[in-house]
Amino acid sequence: CMQASVLQDASPRYPNAATTPSTRLITRVSHAPAALLTPTTGCASMRNLWLIFMTTQAALQQEDDPRASPTIKLSNGVVMPRVGYGCAGKASARYVERALREGVRLIDTAQADEWYDEAAAADGLRASGVSRDDVTVVTKLHPKNHGATTARRLIDESAQRFGGYVDVFLQHYLACWDGLCGKNWRNTVEGDWRDSWRAMEAAYDEGLVKAIGVSNVGPREVDELVKFARIKPHVVQAWMDPFHASVELRKTCEKHNIRFMAYSTLGTQWSMQGRANPVLSSSKLREFGDPARVALSWALLRNAVVIPRSFSNERIAANARLYDGGVLTVGLDAAALEAIDALDGTLDQSDDVQAVFANDGDENVVLLWKGPDGDVEVGSAAPGASVEISTYRGHEFAAKLHRHEEAFATYQIGAARRQTFRVRDPEAGPDL
Ligand SMILES: NC(=O)c1ccc[n+]([C@@H]2O[C@H](COP(=O)([O-])OP(=O)(O)OC[C@H]3O[C@@H](n4cnc5c(N)ncnc54)[C@H](OP(=O)(O)O)[C@@H]3O)[C@@H](O)[C@H]2O)c1
Repeated sequence: CMQASVLQDASPRYPNAATTPSTRLITRVSHAPAALLTPTTGCASMRNLWLIFMTTQAALQQEDDPRASPTIKLSNGVVMPRVGYGCAGKASARYVERALREGVRLIDTAQADEWYDEAAAADGLRASGVSRDDVTVVTKLHPKNHGATTARRLIDESAQRFGGYVDVFLQHYLACWDGLCGKNWRNTVEGDWRDSWRAMEAAYDEGLVKAIGVSNVGPREVDELVKFARIKPHVVQAWMDPFHASVELRKTCEKHNIRFMAYSTLGTQWSMQGRANPVLSSSKLREFGDPARVALSWALLRNAVVIPRSFSNERIAANARLYDGGVLTVGLDAAALEAIDALDGTLDQSDDVQAVFANDGDENVVLLWKGPDGDVEVGSAAPGASVEISTYRGHEFAAKLHRHEEAFATYQIGAARRQTFRVRDPEAGPDL
């Protein structure tokens, strides 16, 4: 009767899985924690008692844990933690599990498998032994899946993956662009953000998602969404660090009683642009303590939810210990907060560069930005035409012929404010 079996969940499908279902199943069994193992059928009352015991233990552990993040209430009464774990960079199950074991009770993932691994987040959650109901799962719809039917299908998939529901379902972006959705997206995307929003509202009515919202929006878009929505957005997620504080957007969210979730608070967006990270290296922040903790504490004190990402056990633990007994461990008084607020917009933008790629060849060329998460298509030029791109010193681009997979040249952006690159494949010949 006490022989263990894997708890049934509603998620037999692993659309993003790189491994075969059977490999994944073995992984789940070997990592399955006590709280996810139930006695086999035939001992229903014992199983129920056992489940109640395990759930209560998990709840007690969380309540007693002095590190536990305080919570906030969304406009619909749903409660969620102030500190989560961000899963960008395709955080593997091991890191998600680690964050949950360190006491984090919110995970932020997405369906965009160029940056995230939603299946790994679900695996990490299962492996952690923390009850599903104690964790706020945030996930996001890829804009290539906008449209009534497609969005609904993708909501169902995420919900199934996370035990039948998602806590916060966001639109990752309101719209597509070539680099994100592929050149042909105008022909392949079913609908727009409005259609997806209606699908999200229906899923909300059915309890499949507990809260809904958007990401990567500006104040005007939030106003427009609020006007359009039958179910008003509960959460907006956007970039917020001390040098890019999204002040107007946060004010707009406050006006509409929308909770603001900050991303890249540790300066990652700047490093993705090829710059030194101004947050982690800031002497101004260091005056108040460790810059990472100061930046996160500042965002929390400015009413944001934070979702730092780390692939280091030590830093995952440090980020989970921002609070002690409900009090932030980095004390920032009003003067300190104002000093940090004053950093907004102060970064030198002088390394902006205009790069022109002139196609000197006889064939169409495609330009790719070699970003931290892989190549991103940024434009194409017919023979004799040019592509002009705003970029930064140190960035790297590649060019390939339209009909080829492989790039034929790479280009490094140098110091000049305006640079022209002549693009021609020396070996280009007829396509036989
Ligand atoms: N909606 C969107 O479009 C969007 C966009 C970007 C991000 N996000 C979400 O926001 C989350 C966080 O943003 P992010 O991934 O851009 O990065 P982030 O949290 O701003 O920063 C991550 C970086 O900071 C380092 N780090 C983490 N904790 C640290 C600490 N205590 N001390 C020093 N360094 C520390 C990490 O290095 P180590 O790994 O070495 O610790 C990593 O390099 C994402 O994971 C994702 O969930 C959403």
